[in-house]
Amino acid sequence: MDPLEHMPGTSVGQDPVPGTDADEDRAATAKRRVSFGAVAAWAAHLGALLPLTLLVWDVLTGGLSYDPVRDLTQRTGRAAFILLVLTIAVRPVVRLTGVGSLRGLARILGLYAFGYALLHLLVFVGLDFGFRWDLIVGGVLEKRFAVIGLASFLVLLAMAATSTKGWMQRLGALWKRIHRLVYAAGTLAMLHYLLAVKTITGTQLAWLVVVVLLFVARIPEVEERLGALRRLGERTGSGDAERPPPDPDPEFFG
Ligand code: HEM
Repeated sequence: MDPLEHMPGTSVGQDPVPGTDADEDRAATAKRRVSFGAVAAWAAHLGALLPLTLLVWDVLTGGLSYDPVRDLTQRTGRAAFILLVLTIAVRPVVRLTGVGSLRGLARILGLYAFGYALLHLLVFVGLDFGFRWDLIVGGVLEKRFAVIGLASFLVLLAMAATSTKGWMQRLGALWKRIHRLVYAAGTLAMLHYLLAVKTITGTQLAWLVVVVLLFVARIPEVEERLGALRRLGERTGSGDAERPPPDPDPEFFG
């Protein structure tokens, strides 16, 4: 039997249906894009769950440091911070590569960033202060970096709470404004990080450079250039990259 017999437009003895090859090409490309986006989403889930897995492992096997509460605070804080930075990085990466299916990563990474920030807060109020609210309020207010951390957390909370399609439709233009606050959350988290560590080392400075670069990448003129760079790459035949939707999408849980 001819393997092509049952494929539309390719049956033996029939004229090919005009446009079918192009349709098939388009369908194949769309399928590739979907699967690429799905693989990236899986990688994001796995990567985001890794710090939690290692943390649980260390808790169960006694692998934490001599100050386990501090260890937990620092590790959850760092995970939240890194995931937040990666969330902000999604937009310029999509601009530069044109791979629009990566866009969904912002929502995934942003929700994990919020999850780790919540754990970080729970360790602080639960393990550090034993849920003694009278002490917690004083404890937060006396540390400037904790107040800044709390402000960052509240922004993340607002975004996480409105991250569903339902809220997106209900809030309309306001939704976009709320989710642009991811840059405020990033600034506050960076400041919180710099103030929380006793001495600023190369690690914090490197993160500061990354955050500043990501913010620069958000300037409309720079975004335009990133798009132009991508188009140049496409013209020189280096890629069959996807074109992202023309309207800049929400940066966070879009
Ligand atoms: C909810 C309010 C928050 C409170 C009360 C809080 C509290 C703290 C405390 C007490 C430390 C110092 C731990 C130590 O003794 O070394 C810390 C460190 C840190 N926090 Fe927060 N935090 C908050 C929110 C956040 C958020 C939203 C993020 C990130 C998105 C974050 C990221 C970090 C980082 C990166 C560190 C430094 C970890 C290190 O030493 O390497 N925090 N936080």
